[in-house]
Amino acid sequence: MLEPSAGAEAGYTDDQYISKGARTASREEIFAQADILIQFRSLGANPEAGRADLRSFRPGQIVMGLGEPLTAVREAADLAAAGVSFFALELIPRTTRAQSMDVLSSLATISGYEAVLLAAKALPKIFPMLMTAAGTITPAKVFVIGAGVAGLQAIATARRLGSVVSAYDVRPAVKDQIVSVGAKFISLDVEATAAEDKGGYAKVMDESFYRRQRELMMEVVREQDVVISTAAVPGKKAPVLITREMVEAMAPGSVIMDIAAVRGGNCELTRPGETVIHNGVTILGPTNFASMAPYHASQMFSANAITFLKHLLGFLPLSTDVTDDIVVDTLVTHGGEVTNSRVREALGLPAAEPVSSGKVS
Ligand code: NAI
Repeated sequence: MLEPSAGAEAGYTDDQYISKGARTASREEIFAQADILIQFRSLGANPEAGRADLRSFRPGQIVMGLGEPLTAVREAADLAAAGVSFFALELIPRTTRAQSMDVLSSLATISGYEAVLLAAKALPKIFPMLMTAAGTITPAKVFVIGAGVAGLQAIATARRLGSVVSAYDVRPAVKDQIVSVGAKFISLDVEATAAEDKGGYAKVMDESFYRRQRELMMEVVREQDVVISTAAVPGKKAPVLITREMVEAMAPGSVIMDIAAVRGGNCELTRPGETVIHNGVTILGPTNFASMAPYHASQMFSANAITFLKHLLGFLPLSTDVTDDIVVDTLVTHGGEVTNSRVREALGLPAAEPVSSGKVS
């Protein structure tokens, strides 16, 4: 079942779904009848409308979607109280086995691409080098901070538009990846070998590390036409890497594109969801890149979600002897309880016996 016109804004008609065997039904009917609900943004990730779903969920229903469970912990507790088994797709482990289910990578791919296009539009220069009868135009200089999935896609996109790109990441392991997509790796002499956790994500570093990083980055940032920052630490506020002082050192007309705005931003002056102009420097902080390329965001999300669902079906009904890391790590609530150990910790709840032994009940 699908809500009428659910795909319309992304460019998919109801007939396309119907031809694949779906039928349209009202939201009320779907909530009342479905055993499994797939949402893009579930309660925790949908501050505008998510709360309205709480009264429609049925105990025992399986709900999967994005839910920001490590930060929207109150919403996770509300989902538990509603009695649903909620699977948060952000918590899919970063393992080879789960790669084809990784919704965050899909979203980051779109973000990295769209971020460059928005920054290019906001810059009063063009990106490529041109040799014209009116003289030579020098290429724009782009600096990417954080070379994860979004950062690498931003580098590749900025290169395709003809700019000169350099990049930096706190994880030294990404140097080769930065070079392979066509950017120069900037060494700030503060890379830390312990900057990566076992999931391949960046860890929180101490304040003296961030201070030293900011000092060294000042020299690099002031030279750039565009700075694109993507530095995030999962479940935490984004570290501030671009200070007011750095912004004031940049030339008027320069652009900062803060992909981390949704987590508070890497730039001290970012206002999530808004455009700020400070001393002639434009600071962009979009928070919903997926809606800028909804056709492909939908295609990638559904491929990830369906791969996850097919995997999950092998473990239903959920029982205490499930130890599969993909199922256990993504399950946030079940049987009226918050079961996920990371979310329980964030809520200040004691470790749950079944979860701490890697099981769900
Ligand atoms: P992310 O969105 O959590 O962070 C973005 C980037 O910012 C990361 O590269 C991180 O190291 C960097 N960063 C954090 N703090 C920083 C600081 N203070 N200064 C500079 N850079 C900073 O990361 P994302 O894109 O989600 O991926 C992280 C890594 O996870 C990838 O590079 C990849 O190796 C791995 N991965 C593995 C997958 C799998 O095996 N299924 C799928 C996707 C990613």
